[in-house]
Amino acid sequence: MTPTRVMFFCLGNICRSPLGEGLFLALLERRGLSHRFHVASSGTSAYHVGEAPDPGSCEVARRLSGIDLTTQRAQQLTSAHLRSHEHVVAMSRSNIEHARALPHSERAHILLLRDFEPDAALRGLDVPDPWGEGEEAFEQVHAIVSRCCEGLLEFILSQDSAPAT
Ligand code: 4NP
Repeated sequence: MTPTRVMFFCLGNICRSPLGEGLFLALLERRGLSHRFHVASSGTSAYHVGEAPDPGSCEVARRLSGIDLTTQRAQQLTSAHLRSHEHVVAMSRSNIEHARALPHSERAHILLLRDFEPDAALRGLDVPDPWGEGEEAFEQVHAIVSRCCEGLLEFILSQDSAPAT
């Protein structure tokens, strides 16, 4: 069975989407589903390409979830990523606008992470950008990304088991 490919993306690929990648991988591990997925992250900008995630993201991931983000390296989202990943997951609505400006993006299936909020009143919101902010902002992003990844996984599993149309 070929793995389902999931790409998390934000602007810089150093704060929010590295947490998406790391927390989604940890969730898959807990559910015994790692072998069925390939998970990556990227940013719509090239500002931080090649860099490790922001220390704020690394710190909350380690302290609150026991996971290591420090080996990740930032990359820029490309049209090729949009073609090669079944699920491309944005942290904010502006990320989606930027991705839609890439060539051939019209066929890509782009999702907004907070559309998977358990509380319907919070759906459609952005994951706030914590870059340059303090510990509390990173803790808030960690909480949002953790709970939304659960709903995202349920959605993807329901799609994977649906008959092809
Ligand atoms: P991210 O945060 O998109 O969550 O990685 C940011 C990181 C860097 C910048 C903006 C947001 N920046 O402007 O360099």
